[in-house]
Amino acid sequence: MSLQSLLDDVAHPAPPPGLPDAAALARMAGEFFSALPGSAPATGGVPLPAHPQPAGLTLPPGAAGPATPSLQPMGAAAPGANLLPTSPSSPANVLAQAPALLPHAQAANGVPDHALVAAPGYDGCLGSQLLGVPQRPAAAPGFAGREGWRTTPAAGATGFYFIDGPGATVPGAVPAAQPALHGSATAQPAFDVHAVRRDFPILQERINGRQLVWFDNAATTHKPEAVIDRLAYFYAHENSNIHRAAHTLAARATDAYEGARETVRRFIGAASVDEVIFVRGTTEGINLIAKSWGARHIGAGDEIIVSHLEHHANIVPWQQLAAEKGAVIRVIPVDDDGQVILSEYARLLGPRTKLVSCTQVSNALGTVTPVQQIVAMAHAAGARALVDAAQSVSHMRVDVRALDADFLVFSGHKVFGPTGIGVVYGKREVLEDMPPWQGGGNMIADVTFERTVYHGPPTRFEAGTGNIADAVGLGAALEYVERIGIEAIGAYEHALLDYATHRIRPIPGVRLVGTAAHKASVLSFVLEGYTTEEVGQALNREAIAVRTGHHCAQPILRRFGLETTVRPSLAFYNTCEEVDRMVAVVQRLANGRQR
Ligand code: ALA
Repeated sequence: MSLQSLLDDVAHPAPPPGLPDAAALARMAGEFFSALPGSAPATGGVPLPAHPQPAGLTLPPGAAGPATPSLQPMGAAAPGANLLPTSPSSPANVLAQAPALLPHAQAANGVPDHALVAAPGYDGCLGSQLLGVPQRPAAAPGFAGREGWRTTPAAGATGFYFIDGPGATVPGAVPAAQPALHGSATAQPAFDVHAVRRDFPILQERINGRQLVWFDNAATTHKPEAVIDRLAYFYAHENSNIHRAAHTLAARATDAYEGARETVRRFIGAASVDEVIFVRGTTEGINLIAKSWGARHIGAGDEIIVSHLEHHANIVPWQQLAAEKGAVIRVIPVDDDGQVILSEYARLLGPRTKLVSCTQVSNALGTVTPVQQIVAMAHAAGARALVDAAQSVSHMRVDVRALDADFLVFSGHKVFGPTGIGVVYGKREVLEDMPPWQGGGNMIADVTFERTVYHGPPTRFEAGTGNIADAVGLGAALEYVERIGIEAIGAYEHALLDYATHRIRPIPGVRLVGTAAHKASVLSFVLEGYTTEEVGQALNREAIAVRTGHHCAQPILRRFGLETTVRPSLAFYNTCEEVDRMVAVVQRLANGRQR
């Protein structure tokens, strides 16, 4: 068989013998759902089966693939309407999908599984050329899959305790305009976004009868099965405390935890695993640096520089330190597009500057800051530099040595890993000059009642039993990102953000907040005539999740005369079709206001 014919087969696979073709399946599915009492979904689509994967299914090594059956093809106008793949997949991809392609079990909704996994292989809106997604290796040996993680979707929720304000009245719907192509989008190589999506089970959730659109990635990202499986495997086969005991599970858990530290080291380009400290997240990381390095190195009259873009987590710990020590906070201003003004920054630097702490990507505006230059200028002034990579690490290559950062912090849950785990990177010579910030087990070499000898970094900063399993899960998340390639992710997201910006900006009454030349992921806006909560609630009624509010970044929103914005934030599993769904809601609100 030639490679071309293999690719053709992959692009247009024949159904297995005895099974109907795609058109017949579409018809059968339509008949099936129209026959279910009270089950007609509002926009078409296939309800979730209760157990999409049979209990105890063991995936053969190397064939785990994008194992989540694609239960609801994106953008489907009618059930089964997009069953024919529209682009080729790599042979490796298809082999990896084998378990899902085989009719291994009857789905609860009666639709043959093989019909459900044949979603289009690329996001046509961006004109992408499918390159295929490197698949994750099989789950760790002995792991037999999972079941029971899928929960019953909550339906009809319109208000939440954490959202104030009245529900919005949504005027009549306006059909979404056809997406337009934009120059940079068509030029970008891309990957198979629908294969990626199959790795994220939660993307198949239905909210208010519609398939979830997750545009709250700046708040937290979803987890691929590689991470979910890794956590389950840890608890099923490796769970133990670490660095203690002579038994086998202690060795497994320690290996897994320290293996994750090595993965983090590689991912951020650190020179040594001793420069990688596990913490709960970015906030705890900055607090660690403030309470340890800051306590030793900041004194009365010293200056700490932050930018106007900072998240509260990169403001409050420095204020606390400054109040304690009599130090001073200085703020780099931004221009009307939300870009830091480097000439003003240069004027702030001086002999009293001890630390510059700056975000790499603004969580509220999406601005990508020239952080390498900011670090270099700090060093030229004799100051240390901290990079807050919480919002950058999932969108672009973060290399601590290229940045020459003294510290860099990020959270696992914003890069497809678990919550409750994050990282402080610190240059070895900087960490060695820092006292512990918490005392307890694990971080000591020797204790008597008279004195304690501490370990060196990183253990010195990891007192007590840490979040072992989630560190391991973070390692799995970073390996997943590595397999796809952060540059491919960045290119795809850039095109998607460009597309979303071009779609939403022309809507009457929309004001984009944050229009920097270099942005990542975030599309903050306000809509004239509506509170941001009203917009958020209208989007939620259509199963589109965005954050509304101050985004824990009140100073920068006030710089733009605002207390809150609507903040869609994109990840590499989002699509143009999802953007279109959001734009349709915003357009409908805008039309309603004008009546
Ligand atoms: N820092 C997170 C956000 O921007 C929670 O939403």
